[in-house]
Amino acid sequence: EPAGYVPAVVVGSGYGGAVAALRLAEAGVSTLVLEMGRAWDAPSSDGKVFCSTASPDRRSMWFRTRTAAPLASFLWLDVVNRDISPYPGVLDRVDHPGMSVYVGRGVGGGSLVNGGMAVTPDRAYFREVLPQVDADAMYGTWFPLANRMLGVNTVAPDWFESTEWYQFTRVSRAQAARAGLATTFVPNVYDFGHMQREAAGTATKSALAQEVIYGNNFGKRSLDRTYLAAALGTGKVTIETLSRVRAIRRDPDGSYVLTVAQTDLTGAVVATREVGCGALFLAAGSLGTTELLLRARETGALPDLSPAVGKGWAGNGNIMLGRANHLWNPTGARQSTIPVMGINDWNNAANPVFAEIAPLPIGLETWVSLYLAITRNPERGTFVYDPATDAAVLNWSRSQNQPSVAAAKSLFDRVNRANATIYRYDLFGGNRVFADDFCYHPLGGCVLGSATDAYGRANGYDGLYVVDGSLVPGSIGVNPFVTITALAERTMARVLAQDGIT
Ligand code: FDA
Repeated sequence: EPAGYVPAVVVGSGYGGAVAALRLAEAGVSTLVLEMGRAWDAPSSDGKVFCSTASPDRRSMWFRTRTAAPLASFLWLDVVNRDISPYPGVLDRVDHPGMSVYVGRGVGGGSLVNGGMAVTPDRAYFREVLPQVDADAMYGTWFPLANRMLGVNTVAPDWFESTEWYQFTRVSRAQAARAGLATTFVPNVYDFGHMQREAAGTATKSALAQEVIYGNNFGKRSLDRTYLAAALGTGKVTIETLSRVRAIRRDPDGSYVLTVAQTDLTGAVVATREVGCGALFLAAGSLGTTELLLRARETGALPDLSPAVGKGWAGNGNIMLGRANHLWNPTGARQSTIPVMGINDWNNAANPVFAEIAPLPIGLETWVSLYLAITRNPERGTFVYDPATDAAVLNWSRSQNQPSVAAAKSLFDRVNRANATIYRYDLFGGNRVFADDFCYHPLGGCVLGSATDAYGRANGYDGLYVVDGSLVPGSIGVNPFVTITALAERTMARVLAQDGIT
């Protein structure tokens, strides 16, 4: 079978991939995007594209027989998860020995399932994490561009103060204040105008109908509505779905050749083909990109890749936890799924924590305050290629989460003391308070400036680029997609100006 040839290939259609596709197309380069998930653009027989969190079906998760939601139990009961039939659903949980990583699958990647929190990192911390990146250009050009392109907006403060849908947030804010802690509004890509219309009964409910981790049917400006819509609009971009890149090699003429497995909705491989390209942009996410490069290096296909490929991974210090409130402090049966506020104690030198106030949108009064804490954890994991399974295995032990647990505990012990409240033990299994076995923010594995140059060009190989979360060295102190988007914009501007991609 002769290899099909395209000028540029982008692997993955999350933040990095969407930026790369649009900017290549605008520069006139015909681009093929290969995405292992499906397109989420057509309703099923129930009239909806995505299933609801309350009654998940096969659309919810990636090839599982039972859902595996982050909040696994309530009052220690297995009431959250449901049996489903295997299908290329939108949310995946990739289980490594010491850490499970949640990722989105489909055209739009993580933007389909995430909470939409769109946070530009603290400048001093950004400089510390990525010292080789010009902070003036990031904060003057690339962060503002990313915010504009992603459609970032903020909840209207007067509506926030009055709506029942954010009572859970106001309760947590008051309790943080009693402990002397500052809170701050968190911007989002969910359209708050739409949310207000949902509350008023003039728009179909999505964030106000418990939709988020298995997709929002309305309201969210996911990448398929922003960058990817613009990319397709140029006429220069093709997106092929259910197409998983398995291997990368290089031909003597310098072009890259990808082995692509085409699957059907049962997961069976229906065809394997080769695609050749002049320029290759890897945007398969921290886990996906790192695995592709590690496999290429370790099998000898791309032997000159940096020894740093596979190193510098962490989950942004993610820790979830819940607190139990007093009966006179209800958090509300009605909760928006979209978080809008965080407790900002990042400048606490001993225990820096940025803790988002998360909803528990099950339609009942629970008296629970839930949080996603982002902590500063110096521990890093390493991916190792396992030839027996042809997969990358993450070397990360549960004990490496201990600094994160300690930081979260330090902050929420203060909140509990100030409010005479206690933790919840029933939410994450095993009577644990702190969920330290999963993360939403996988970062690193192919770190900027060590596995690549300062712009994401893979060391050792011309025309091979990394443009996703694998560039960020394990921690960024806030939710990462604005940073990933801004860094991808910076890379694309540079390589399209300098590298002669046609
Ligand atoms: P991303 O993971 O978005 O995209 C990679 C794509 O590549 C996927 O579509 C995948 O299917 C595809 N792919 C992988 N391997 C492939 C292969 N071999 N061949 C073909 N395709 C392949 N962040 C934030 O800033 N604010 C928030 O509120 C949240 N909330 C949140 C909630 C939940 C539930 C999750 C799971 C995640 C978040 N995040 C978040 C994290 C955020 O979604 C994440 O950081 C970004 O999506 C990462 O962007 P990337 O471009 O790196 O990859």
